Amino acid sequence: MSSTSTSSTTTTAILLSPDKDGLIEAGERLRSGGLVAFPTETVYGLGANALDEAAVRSIFTTKGRPLTDPLIVHVPAQEEALKLLQLDPSAASVYELLATTFWPGPLTLVGKAVEKIPLTVTAGTGFVGIRCPNHELAQKMLIEARVPVAAPSANRFGHVSPTTAQHVFNDLGNHDIAILKGEEKMEGEDSAEKNIMETCSVGIESTVAKVDGETKTVIIFRRGGISESAIEKCLAGTDYKIQALNKTVPHDPSKVPKVEEEGKVDGEGKNLVQERGEQAPGQCLTHYAPDVSTSLICNFGCISGNSGDQQQQYEMCKTPLNECVVIDFGGYLNTLKSHVMDYRDLSESGDVSEAAHHLFDTLRWTENIDGVKQVLLVDIFEVEKSRTPESFQHHEHLKAVADRMFRAASGHRVIVNNRSL
Ligand code: TXA
Ligand code: MG
Repeated sequence: MSSTSTSSTTTTAILLSPDKDGLIEAGERLRSGGLVAFPTETVYGLGANALDEAAVRSIFTTKGRPLTDPLIVHVPAQEEALKLLQLDPSAASVYELLATTFWPGPLTLVGKAVEKIPLTVTAGTGFVGIRCPNHELAQKMLIEARVPVAAPSANRFGHVSPTTAQHVFNDLGNHDIAILKGEEKMEGEDSAEKNIMETCSVGIESTVAKVDGETKTVIIFRRGGISESAIEKCLAGTDYKIQALNKTVPHDPSKVPKVEEEGKVDGEGKNLVQERGEQAPGQCLTHYAPDVSTSLICNFGCISGNSGDQQQQYEMCKTPLNECVVIDFGGYLNTLKSHVMDYRDLSESGDVSEAAHHLFDTLRWTENIDGVKQVLLVDIFEVEKSRTPESFQHHEHLKAVADRMFRAASGHRVIVNNRSL
């Protein structure tokens, strides 16, 4: 049997095993307009045939995602990507250089889409992000599908991204989707325990970059699995520079058009979806957020050393420590350990890649702790700076991990007075 129905009455999701039967069923479902969640080296994606407008729309309704957030299209090889793009000749060589260097891998390249890609995929912008994932099962599924697969992360909109099939199931199990299961153990299964994270080895999403031929710039929309320094190195022999956008847009649900509002125009006659799609693709201040109030701990060791300006941006943590859980890095906050409800370290040895790998699973772990009121996240930047205060050489993935932790906390920072501990 390649599929198993789940037990709950409200559950409609189907699990597909990572074998030939599961892959055949995934391919058939995708070609006939269904949704299939699948593992990649970054996070699980929720896939649909990218050329099927109705299927693509069902991704947005299933996730509760606004139409202003464009989707990444997944292909098994670079040749397939080039069929979906109309690259201007000046940008084509750099696009191909980046693709050849980093694919298969966690880099999404944005370029002008061919007409057959529905506008819903591009959030009305006409530009599409394409990625070729470096994951065996994802590759096999994409080959079996024989269609390009549009896929956002397979979580509820705004929630923590999923790095296991169980995470997908917890968020979207009551929807009509199939979940192609990577090599991992699901709750209630008898199979020998495996490393549950092995399928999403990178653990954070792909870097999203646009090659802009006019300004000769590679614009980074989202930091991720391929670092800016690696891209910079790759561009060394070209006349292109790199520019990272650091936008954070507060999520205002009243301003975000939903699927049923497509076609709506504002007071000046501008199409709402297109306008917002261009302004703020995926830059929400609140993103990756667990269902428990979350804040970053700042200036852990030196409250009185703050400048007045800085202090205004912070609040004292009002929740009693025995109702908080701490997510730490490199043991920086370990004096809090015995005062809080629970504690986990993303990497005891202070390895940023290991922290990336564990981050989303750890954020979700906090949701299952009885009585927890507040998640306190370490400020990973502060930890890294404290290690090398004279010559701050940050790890190539530090900014990508810090960005996710900042958005998981909606930018909220608190001070915990450790003097009294
Ligand atoms: O690693 C990943 O990228 C995962 C796996 C499944 O491939 N996918 C993923 O998709 O993270 P999603 O939808 O959760 O995030 C994609 C983000 C969007 O929010 C947006 O910021 C950016 O990529 N993006 C996609 N297409 C774009 C475009 N045409 N222009 C600008 N940004 C785009
Ligand atoms: Mg996402």
